[in-house]
Amino acid sequence: MIRARVAGTGSYIPEKVLTNLDLEKFLDTSDEWIVTRTGIRERHIAAVDENTSDLASEAARQALQMAGVGAEEIDLIVVGTVTGEFNFPSTACLVQKNLNARRAFAFDVSAACSGFLFALSNAVNYHRSGAVKRSLVIGAEVMSRTVDWKDRNTCVLFGDGAGALVLVNDESERGILSTHLHTDGSFWELLFQPRPSGWGPGASAEHATQEMGFLKMQGNEVFKVAVKLLSDVALEALAANGLTRDELKLIFPHQANKRILDAIGKRLGLSADKIFVNVDRVANTSSASIPIALDEANRQGLLAPQDLILINAFGGGFTWGSALIRW
Ligand code: ACO
Repeated sequence: MIRARVAGTGSYIPEKVLTNLDLEKFLDTSDEWIVTRTGIRERHIAAVDENTSDLASEAARQALQMAGVGAEEIDLIVVGTVTGEFNFPSTACLVQKNLNARRAFAFDVSAACSGFLFALSNAVNYHRSGAVKRSLVIGAEVMSRTVDWKDRNTCVLFGDGAGALVLVNDESERGILSTHLHTDGSFWELLFQPRPSGWGPGASAEHATQEMGFLKMQGNEVFKVAVKLLSDVALEALAANGLTRDELKLIFPHQANKRILDAIGKRLGLSADKIFVNVDRVANTSSASIPIALDEANRQGLLAPQDLILINAFGGGFTWGSALIRW
């Protein structure tokens, strides 16, 4: 059986840091409130001339370097993002150009904060079918351009960044064991971003304002559903593979809020040292959050061949999913 195995990881986080103390200077908020409610201390913000495809390309270059794979050997590029600089072409097309990955076909996947997991699942199926041998799966976002910097309910939560994996075919027991994806569109109004042009329900281009295009969220409703579904989908992945939580080396949940991570740990009966956390330093980077976390852990030497790890994500839509990986 052909499996997609992770051969390299990479990430790119913009240089500019925005701390909670920086936010206090222009927003009615406090470091104490943000840390207590979210665990976030700082986030990184893309420079004005940095776009999602730039972040994605840099993360991809690092992953290729680690894997020892040339861009020209890549068959497929999938990018999970909701903040591409164009409606079209896709961010993946721009990454293909930037890397000069000439033989790769490339497309984006839109599943909000679950975008990376949905992108990964797509790529895994291309590997399994034998259609591709080497792929790049990327999560990249410039969330700082989606939020209203006057809205303390949302802007404090997000940050910018990108993470990437190089996948290669493997016929051993290593690789991505399974992916599990779900959607419930009836929840769309709890978390969404209208088109800035004013398209969409209740708006017309004629009356469009910049504010209309900002991300909207009912945070506490999202919180409750996120904890339940992130936990359920983790258990689903374990059950599907006949594995137990005790066999997990680490889990990498979508980094939205430290309280969500703690609640998942409690529901799954996992000790805190099994849950990777970097939300304090990068905040919620949407679909970039899991691949950035994987790259950090990998470069810190926390992941060894054969380790069993689980990733699980949740995002607007609602969308949610998980994957079990034999590293
Ligand atoms: N600073 C100070 N006060 C604030 C801030 C802030 N930044 N933001 C909100 N408040 C205030 C509110 O106005 C409210 O005041 P009020 O009682 O006078 O009206 C009070 O704090 C409590 O607000 P709640 O929304 O009830 O606070 P809660 O404890 O639920 O925390 C939070 C809010 C952090 C947004 C939490 O609900 C959360 O994290 N939800 C999940 C959101 C999330 O992770 N979304 C993304 C997941 S999917 C994806 O990544 C796209």
